[in-house]
Amino acid sequence: MGYRTIVSLDSTASEDERLTGYLCFGRTPMTDATVDLYWMAVAPNLQGKGIGRALVDAFEVIMAEEGMRIIRVETSTREGYGKTLDFYLRLNYLEVGRILNFYTDDDHLVTLIKVLS
Ligand SMILES: CC(C)(COP(=O)(O)OP(=O)(O)OC[C@H]1O[C@@H](n2cnc3c(N)ncnc32)[C@H](O)[C@@H]1OP(=O)(O)O)[C@@H](O)C(=O)NCCC(=O)NCCS
Repeated sequence: MGYRTIVSLDSTASEDERLTGYLCFGRTPMTDATVDLYWMAVAPNLQGKGIGRALVDAFEVIMAEEGMRIIRVETSTREGYGKTLDFYLRLNYLEVGRILNFYTDDDHLVTLIKVLS
C-alpha cells in the first residue's frame, strides 16, 4: 500500500535544521477507508510548541478530503511513549483497545482511533 509522509519545515532555518517534524501514514490493508498513522516525531528542541498538533491537523484534513473515515494509531505506555499517549488523547483520539504486557512486563500496547466526520 505504501507509506506517505507529511513534513513540517522551517523555511528560515539552515538546510540542516529545516525539517522540524514529520508524520508517516498509510492505508490500512483490507479496509475501505481506514488509515494508519504509523509514526510521527517533532525535533526534540521544538516539542511542546504546537508542531505535532499542526501535523496531525493537516493529516486529518487531507484524510477527510480523500474520503477516509477512520484513523488508527498504536502506541506504548512505556516512559516516553506514555507522553505520546497523552498527546493523542489531548487531540481527541479515543482509546479503543489495550493489550496488557504486550511489549514487556508493564508496557502495554494501546490502540486509539479518530472517526472523521
Ligand atoms: C509526541 C509528539 C509528536 C508531540 O508533538 P509536539 O509538537 O511536542 O506536541 P504539541 O506541542 O503540538 O502538543 C499538542 C497538544 O498535546 C499536548 N501534549 C503534548 N505532549 C503532551 C504530554 N506529554 N502530556 C500531555 N499533553 C501533551 C500539548 O499540551 C498540546 O495541547 P494544546 O494544543 O491543547 O495546548 C512529540 O513530543 C514527539 O516527537 N515525541 C517523540 C517521538 C514520539 O513519541 N513519536 C510518536 C510515536 S508514533
